[in-house]
Amino acid sequence: MDMRSYDVLIVGAGVAGLNCALHLPKETRVLVVCKGGLKESDSFLAQGGICVLRDKGDYQSYFEDTMRAGHYENNPFTVRCMIENSRKTIEELIGFGVRFARDGNGELRFTREGAHSRPRILFHADCTGKEITSHLLKAVQKCPNVELRPHTTMIDLLLSEDGENCLGAVLCENATGGVYAVRAGNTVLATGGVGGLFPHSTNFRILTGDGVGVCLEHAIAVDHADYVQFHPTSLYTTGHGRSFLISESVRGEGAHLIDREGRRFVDELLPRDVVTAAIYEQMRKEGSDHVRLDLRTVEGGAETLRQHFPGIVEHCRKEGYDVFSEPIPVVPAQHYFMGGIRSSLFGRTTMPHLYAVGETCCNGVHGRNRLASNSLLEALIFAARAAEDIVRTGPAKGEAAFDPAAYDVKTIERARKARVRKEIHRERK
Ligand code: SIN
Repeated sequence: MDMRSYDVLIVGAGVAGLNCALHLPKETRVLVVCKGGLKESDSFLAQGGICVLRDKGDYQSYFEDTMRAGHYENNPFTVRCMIENSRKTIEELIGFGVRFARDGNGELRFTREGAHSRPRILFHADCTGKEITSHLLKAVQKCPNVELRPHTTMIDLLLSEDGENCLGAVLCENATGGVYAVRAGNTVLATGGVGGLFPHSTNFRILTGDGVGVCLEHAIAVDHADYVQFHPTSLYTTGHGRSFLISESVRGEGAHLIDREGRRFVDELLPRDVVTAAIYEQMRKEGSDHVRLDLRTVEGGAETLRQHFPGIVEHCRKEGYDVFSEPIPVVPAQHYFMGGIRSSLFGRTTMPHLYAVGETCCNGVHGRNRLASNSLLEALIFAARAAEDIVRTGPAKGEAAFDPAAYDVKTIERARKARVRKEIHRERK
C-alpha cells in the first residue's frame, strides 16, 4: 500500500504543535496538519498574556499560586518544570521576534490576573496569543523540513499490526473527504481543547477534543475528562458562535464585576472557578442571564483601556457598548480543558511513539483549575520537551495496519459534523 511517510507527524498548529516542530532537528521530515485554517487555533485567541518567573524570589509564590488555583491536585513535578523553564521559553519567543509590552526604560512590563499574588504576566496589548503564534508560524513556514497542511482532519491513529505502537494517523482531506494514512516515526497530538462541544465557549467551534476521542477508542489513557474550566467573563450575547472573551487582565487592572444595582459582589481576583461560581449565583439571585463588568474603574482609566485593551474596546464598540461610559454585560463561558490525554514530563502518552502536548494533554500541571496565563507557557514548554524526547527515542518500527475500507461514510460524516458543530447547536435550540 502506498502510504506517505514522515519522521514526525504533528496534528495541530497552535503554539504546542508549532513549537514542537521548531524544536525538532532540521533534518527531520515533519508534517503538521490542522483541522481548520492555520490561524484557527485557540492559541491565536489568547488575550491576557503568558506567565514568567520574574526572579528567583518569585519561585515559591508562583508555585503556590498555581497549586492553590488547581486545588492542589496539580502534579508538582510538572509545575516545577514549567516554572523553571519559563524564562528560557520567553527568551526563545523574543528571539523569534515576539514583542512584549515594555516600559519607558525598555524593561518588560507585567500585568496581573486572578489568583496571582503578584503581577508576573507578560503581554502584547490584548492579543498576546496572536503575537506569539503568528511569529512561531512564520518561523515554521521558513523551515524547509516542515510541511504544513491545513484543512485536514485526523480521524484515527495508525497502529502497528499488533496494536502496540503508534505509527502515524489516518487523515481526511476536508475539501474532498478523501481518506489517507500517514506513516510517521513519531506522532504528536496537539489538537487543542473541547470548546466546540459546548454551546457557549471562547474556543473555536472546530475544537472538539479529537485527540482525546481517538485515544479513548484505542484505550490510551485519558485523565479527568470532567475538568473543564469556565472563564468568568465572556461578552454576553444572544447570538450564536464563539463567545468573545473579556480578558481576566481587565479585572487584574481594576475592572469591577457588579450586580444590577451597581454593587460589587465578589473579589474579582479570586481563582477563576470561584469567580465563575459567584457570577452564576448572582445571576440566579437576580433571575438574569448575565452580570455586568465595569471597565471604567481600570487603573489609568481611558488611556489604559485604549493602550492595553484596544481589541476588547473595539469589539465592544461593534457590539454597541461604549466601555468608557457604561458597564458591559458578561457571562461565564467554557474556556479550557484541564483534563486530557495522560502525558508525562516529556509528553509521552501510554502508547509508545505517541505524544500529546498542549490543551489536549493532561500532564497535571493545572490540577483541577488552571491559573490564568499558564496555558501558553505550559504548551510551549512541554511541546519542546516532547521534541527532545522524540530525538532521544528514535522512530517506531514495524508495519502499519491500514484498511481504507474501514473508514466508511459514517466515520467521514462524523468528522464533517465535528467541523460544523456550531450548526448542530443551532439546530438543537
Ligand atoms: C484571559 O485573558 O482572561 C485568558 C487568559 C487565560 O486563559 O489564561
